[in-house]
Amino acid sequence: MEGVVDHTMRTMLTKVGGIDRCVTEFVRVTTTRLPSRVFYRYCPELHNRGMTPSGVPVYIQLLGGNAESMAINAAKAASLGAPGIDINFGCPAKSVNRNDGGSVLLKEPQRLHDIVAAVRDAVPLDIPVTAKIRLGFNDSSLLTDISQAIFSANASELTIHARTKSDGYKPPAYWEAIADIQANSPVPVIANGEIWTVNDYHSCIKQSGCDDVMLGRGLLACPDLAVQIRAGRSMTGSQQDIPALSWPQVLDLVAQFCIVTEAMYERKYVGNRVKQWLAYLRQHYVFAGDLFEQVKRLKWPEEIADVVAEQRRSLLAENSP
Ligand SMILES: Cc1cc2nc3c(=O)[nH]c(=O)nc-3n(C[C@H](O)[C@H](O)[C@H](O)COP(=O)(O)O)c2cc1C
Repeated sequence: MEGVVDHTMRTMLTKVGGIDRCVTEFVRVTTTRLPSRVFYRYCPELHNRGMTPSGVPVYIQLLGGNAESMAINAAKAASLGAPGIDINFGCPAKSVNRNDGGSVLLKEPQRLHDIVAAVRDAVPLDIPVTAKIRLGFNDSSLLTDISQAIFSANASELTIHARTKSDGYKPPAYWEAIADIQANSPVPVIANGEIWTVNDYHSCIKQSGCDDVMLGRGLLACPDLAVQIRAGRSMTGSQQDIPALSWPQVLDLVAQFCIVTEAMYERKYVGNRVKQWLAYLRQHYVFAGDLFEQVKRLKWPEEIADVVAEQRRSLLAENSP
């Protein structure tokens, strides 16, 4: 997720567990062959065979409308050790769509085919090439054509964000709209959109028919959502309560996040990244809301780290016998 799930966030979330794979933020491809440093910047995990410190593979996400450039840059990413290439056909941003990238391409299934086929040809066969789409641009009338275009170009997997570009991020997600595509797909189809809880996950797989899901904002709000889903899944249908991470445990993650973020970014950017995560966490944890209020006007990482440490101290004191 652009501007949110960077290397540091992937490090934190994969440490919690339950995640099979991550994808980088999108790398914008125009007409040039990007230098290696760009790929290393988006995916520092390339220094670690494309794995997060917890050993979860990170696919490099490319966004662009020029098949030839996409292929050249996919080959470059693969040569640097990317464990997979993911192609973004879902981005709704006006600035991206105006420049021939993201969801605007959903209007032209043949171009989707050409891009995926070119990337597939350019990348060694053992490296998966996956694509992510929405249901369509203004409506879902082209969804079958879009999916067929991508399957016939030999994509390894298709992730579907169950909304159109026009729907933006407005709930609900139309999981049932994926069912036909997944039922007739030669490759795994991954459902995405509005999965915030284990119950949402169960509704999503029931309605979409998909075995697997992609988590976005729900995982930022509840960092062990994937662990909970996985645990529930291995219980052969019987729903049991899986204890969620306690707030003090999440607070430890936030404290570590301050440290890893400070190692990666200029100091002036650290505060905003921490506040951004708290804004997601407060959807699930009341204490995250309190913490957000306390740090929202602070700028420097050490000021924020002090408040985090103080909240942790007082919570532990309250809970000690
Ligand atoms: C801030 C933000 C950044 C995003 N960046 C990307 C991106 O770079 N590539 C992508 O394919 N989707 C991106 N998305 C979309 C998400 O991957 C996901 O499809 C969408 O949020 C719906 O899933 P969710 O309800 O689980 O969040 C982004 C979404 C948000 C909110």
